[in-house]
Amino acid sequence: MSGKLSIPPAEIRAIASAAVEFLASYFETLAERPVVVPATSQSIRQALDEPLPQDGADFQALLDTLRDVISRYSRHNSHPRFFGYVSSPGTPITAVGTMLASALNINVTCWRSAPSGTELEHLTINWLKEMLGYPAAAAGLLTSGGSMANFAALAAARSAKAPANVVRDGVAAAGTRMCVYVSEEGHFSVAKAAGMLGLGEANVRSVKTGDRLQISLADLDRLVQQDLAAGHLPFCVVANAGTTATGAFDPIGDLADFSRRHNLWLHVDAAYGGFAALAPSARHLFARIGEADSVTLDPHKWLYLPIGCGCVLYRDPAAARAAFSHGAEYTRTIGLERDEAFAFWDYGPELSRPFRALDLWLLVKYAGARQLGEAIEQNIACAKYFEQLVRSSADFEMLAAVELSIFCFRYAPPGFQGDLDALNERILVALQRGGSTYLSNARVHGHFALRGCVLNYRTTLRDMEIVLDDVRRAASSL
Ligand SMILES: Cc1ncc(COP(=O)(O)O)c(C=O)c1O
Repeated sequence: MSGKLSIPPAEIRAIASAAVEFLASYFETLAERPVVVPATSQSIRQALDEPLPQDGADFQALLDTLRDVISRYSRHNSHPRFFGYVSSPGTPITAVGTMLASALNINVTCWRSAPSGTELEHLTINWLKEMLGYPAAAAGLLTSGGSMANFAALAAARSAKAPANVVRDGVAAAGTRMCVYVSEEGHFSVAKAAGMLGLGEANVRSVKTGDRLQISLADLDRLVQQDLAAGHLPFCVVANAGTTATGAFDPIGDLADFSRRHNLWLHVDAAYGGFAALAPSARHLFARIGEADSVTLDPHKWLYLPIGCGCVLYRDPAAARAAFSHGAEYTRTIGLERDEAFAFWDYGPELSRPFRALDLWLLVKYAGARQLGEAIEQNIACAKYFEQLVRSSADFEMLAAVELSIFCFRYAPPGFQGDLDALNERILVALQRGGSTYLSNARVHGHFALRGCVLNYRTTLRDMEIVLDDVRRAASSL
């Protein structure tokens, strides 16, 4: 038996204690670190590169590399002023949870393979439905993320609305183009899913948006009529419950009415905005979410879970089974009662699945939904406060109103005659290199925007003031 694969309990304890010490001091010093340390691919590769190690190393040496190279040259997404993309900070409790889940190494394929893991996933999915106000009878499963959830939802929509059995016979059996509608602000994973499902990216219609970057119902209607007249089959509309660029929220109720009139599947991409349902100020936006046929949620965004936990909900469980159920002999569950015969592979594309529900369960149980809701509300308050700061500053302008926790703005000093897009692009690079605040970018109404998304329970109003100072400093450094 190799001594490094099966190690004695005392050594497990020593290794785990050192790792936990690392973890605790990582969180302790997080806010003092630069969000990112400028580096090159070559310098990082040089620090790590070596031939295949034949003999084992000391754990302490590996931890040193983790600290001095891997952690040092990471972009610290948990930093209170990391506002890039739509990025969760993770939590200490789930950092520990991930370690425990790995120890149990449960493969959550089905009840037989993971009796408690399956029950825990059912339970946590029920909690997610409750948070959102989605029907209790809906089915759902945890996915690797929002892209996979959008893919799974579109697969269910495709088989539910196709005039033939496209799962068995392929999309050509539909005999016509099957069209999906999503606003021009929708996430690219929708088009990608359509490509992978054989629907074709070109059959994803990009619907115009209005002033607040919400889907235009008039343009949606125009596109659907155009496709009908051409003999195509409109089958699905995707509503954005918080767009990636600005957090724009499409009117779910109006889209539900429209979908019903045209026999469309209504999918809501709530990967970013879904957990705003826990914040009293945003709750009203979800009033009619229960009418959606499917919903994408991303606990690894605004529920603060570490990366690797998305979720898809299907209002009609049978529609998901029609898309995914597969009767291979080696997966057949024999001699089990109904609940115990449950298999996640009947509801999504994966067979082997990690124990995603453990972190979700740990966080919700440990923190409680109330505290999570308060943190989400605080994130919204930070973004709104930032909007106020920008609107009262002569040298900045907002490019979109804050809808949830995303802010898009630019530096526009009075009297500046040059190219504001180019100026702000350069500011962004300088800002990111500076290490105090990290923003990403977006294009809003045709303009280059500095974009931030408050998605961290550590972020305070004071941090939002620092953002403006940092941007001014970056601008003056040019
Ligand atoms: C609105 C929206 N949908 C889908 C996704 C894709 O999610 P993931 O990165 O978890 O695949 C994102 C990611 O930012 C998103 O903002």
